[in-house]
Amino acid sequence: MELAINKVSLNGSIDIPSDKSISHRSIMFGAIAQGKTTIKNFLRGDDCLSTLQAFKDLGVEIEDDGEVITVYGTGFSGLKQSKKAIDVGNSGTTIRLIMGILAGTTFVTELFGDHSIAKRPMNRVMLPINQMGASCTGHDGTEFPPLTVKGTENLQPIEYHMPVASAQVKSAILFAALQAHGESVIVEKEKTRDHTEDMIRQFGGDITVLGKEIRLKGPQKLNGQEVIVPGDISSAAFFLVAGLIIPDSQIILNNVGLNPTRTGIIDVIQQMGGKLTIKETGNKANKAGTLTVETSVLKGIEISGEIIPRLIDELPIIALLATQAQGKTIIRNAEELKVKETNRIDAVATELNKMGANIEPTEDGLIIHGNTALHNAKVTSYGDHRIGMMLQIAALLVKDGTVELEKAEAISVSYPSFFDDLAKLYQ
Ligand code: S3P
Repeated sequence: MELAINKVSLNGSIDIPSDKSISHRSIMFGAIAQGKTTIKNFLRGDDCLSTLQAFKDLGVEIEDDGEVITVYGTGFSGLKQSKKAIDVGNSGTTIRLIMGILAGTTFVTELFGDHSIAKRPMNRVMLPINQMGASCTGHDGTEFPPLTVKGTENLQPIEYHMPVASAQVKSAILFAALQAHGESVIVEKEKTRDHTEDMIRQFGGDITVLGKEIRLKGPQKLNGQEVIVPGDISSAAFFLVAGLIIPDSQIILNNVGLNPTRTGIIDVIQQMGGKLTIKETGNKANKAGTLTVETSVLKGIEISGEIIPRLIDELPIIALLATQAQGKTIIRNAEELKVKETNRIDAVATELNKMGANIEPTEDGLIIHGNTALHNAKVTSYGDHRIGMMLQIAALLVKDGTVELEKAEAISVSYPSFFDDLAKLYQ
């Protein structure tokens, strides 16, 4: 599709779409809890709809009246064998987290997804849940989907030092640990998003977190709850950056979830000198706020170490931000970017360089030379929603010609109303 270009000012406010990570988990917790769970502000993006359908396939009754989603949970033991292979679409969160849930079932489940899912590493989940007693195998003896998961009633607890910093892996192990007979201990490599831990507590479970160490005794029974999903800071990120780099702009983003394990981009914007104000609106347990950004003079910084998991999904749009800063920005310790929906290190460097940026891909990140003017080009999202949205924000800086984006439809994975929301800011 042809992208919007040449914007000299963006102004107005946007209600940020709901959080993808929390939306997935709200269906999952609703399904494994006893009784009714109601979900308000569920994200109806393709990924979360894959999770919703997956649990319907597993026999869970789920109603959607267009506003509230109601899940009638019958506990882990109420899940039933799916009549067909479960299609997770493009969703890594669906396939990885569901593996942990299926680990304690008494049946076999086949899981498959799109071209991107077929290339995503699964050993990271398969190894620990198989160690707990499940039997999960990949396609043709590899670690890649389609996967077959055979659960066991006799799941054993695990003591696991995670080799990767991944909330998906941690969450899968926690779902299995909730069904295991005894205490599991998980030690994270770096602290990652903690929505699963929060929701175990919210649904009446018992979990202890001490720094990077998590303890959970199984088996546990959870009870249905009311979940209100906040806005997704990972979706807000595109407009935060747009407001900072497009001349003469001020953008207000309403109801953005501010869980501290997700707010690395706010720290980065502040360190780069960006004008950002935060008005907190949530409560202590569920932090949220209204964020306002204005066009700013920015400086390059280094982004590495423990902040990386707190902004892992925002790195493509942060790379664009850095192209407009003074000086060099260095991103390190972000090798996980290579195994996202696409290799995001290569995709960011290749596509932005086509538009005139000066970005060097490295083994574990990017070196971005700032102050570059962007020009028109034909670019692709590689079927990755976050690369697609980043390229549309980049195109706003292009003065003339056309910017053609291939595979723009991927954006509906996390932000179906992205182009409409953007258009509201310049009409
Ligand atoms: C997610 C965890 C992250 C993130 C993904 C969503 C989650 O993946 O990139 O978009 O909801 O747990 P990893 O666990 O692979 O880092």
